[in-house]
Amino acid sequence: MSQPGHEITAPQSGGPMRVLCISGSLRRDSYNRKLLSAASGLAPPTAELVQWGGLKALPPFDEDDEHTPGPAVFALREAIARADALLIATPQYNASLPGQLKNALDWASRPYETNVLRGKPVAVIGASPSPSGAARSQAEARTVLAAIGADVLDTQLALARAHEQFDSYGQLAADTPSPRPPSGDANPNQEDSSMYAILRRNSYDATKLAHAEPALAEFQAMHAAQPGYCGSIVVDIGDGQRVAVNLWATERDAAAGQTALVPHLRRLLEPLMSGPSQLVGAGEVVASDLARSGPTTDQPSATTQEQP
Ligand code: FNR
Repeated sequence: MSQPGHEITAPQSGGPMRVLCISGSLRRDSYNRKLLSAASGLAPPTAELVQWGGLKALPPFDEDDEHTPGPAVFALREAIARADALLIATPQYNASLPGQLKNALDWASRPYETNVLRGKPVAVIGASPSPSGAARSQAEARTVLAAIGADVLDTQLALARAHEQFDSYGQLAADTPSPRPPSGDANPNQEDSSMYAILRRNSYDATKLAHAEPALAEFQAMHAAQPGYCGSIVVDIGDGQRVAVNLWATERDAAAGQTALVPHLRRLLEPLMSGPSQLVGAGEVVASDLARSGPTTDQPSATTQEQP
């Protein structure tokens, strides 16, 4: 493995450094693939990050085919050979690296003496919904790469709680600019800023709702105190049915606010409901679009009350 402080040197060609990105997950909405995409977006002009999509096509490693592999294996070896460095993002499966990623490394490792990974700088990162951020899987991948002869970099990134780290566009939420101050004072005249909206349909027990103003007002006050809360629209569509649109500065504010409000929701609002609250939709909205599209005369009246 490389020593601490080791850096990859620029290619002698003088062009950008070509970094081959390999996601160890085949999943369509993979957090690890999103992590590599985010890395592409953040890379300096001196580096060109190339996403490799051939993992699924690789056959299982068979030593009998080692010297006469099929086109998928050739493509893998060639992609690695052409790269100045590799960036691997791996999930953790049962406390280890995914089988297909290990399979790819096994194919790449042969013939052993002249394998394409020998001396190749490789950084391993990873993401997982768990608090460990696939750290164990990354450690195992580094061990495998070192055994193959790669120049394994000490750079580490274990992205924990991956399900909370990306916005609806797949960008790292920490990099998403927060268009509003983290308070409840939204400015409807602010141009072209985005907010995160959550749309829910709530079915209330109409008889209880008629006497529930104090509970609704108390819940609204708690909502308004949440960091990043920008306000809401609640449309009463009759028969105890309400559609609530809650606006937050960022998706992360929305998630944190929802979590903080859950105990109060159970205490104050759920006793008033005749059925569970339904999530209808969630995502970015543009504030200036909201400001331009005022209510029309044939719309139901809107209030700015509670929003579970
Ligand atoms: C997992 N997952 C998991 N997570 C973890 O932190 N430690 C583990 O040991 C495992 N084991 C495991 C085994 C199998 C077979 C699956 C399918 C999943 C959960 C895993 O981290 C989660 O599904 C990630 O979201 C997978 O990464 P991608 O696909 O989002 O990149």
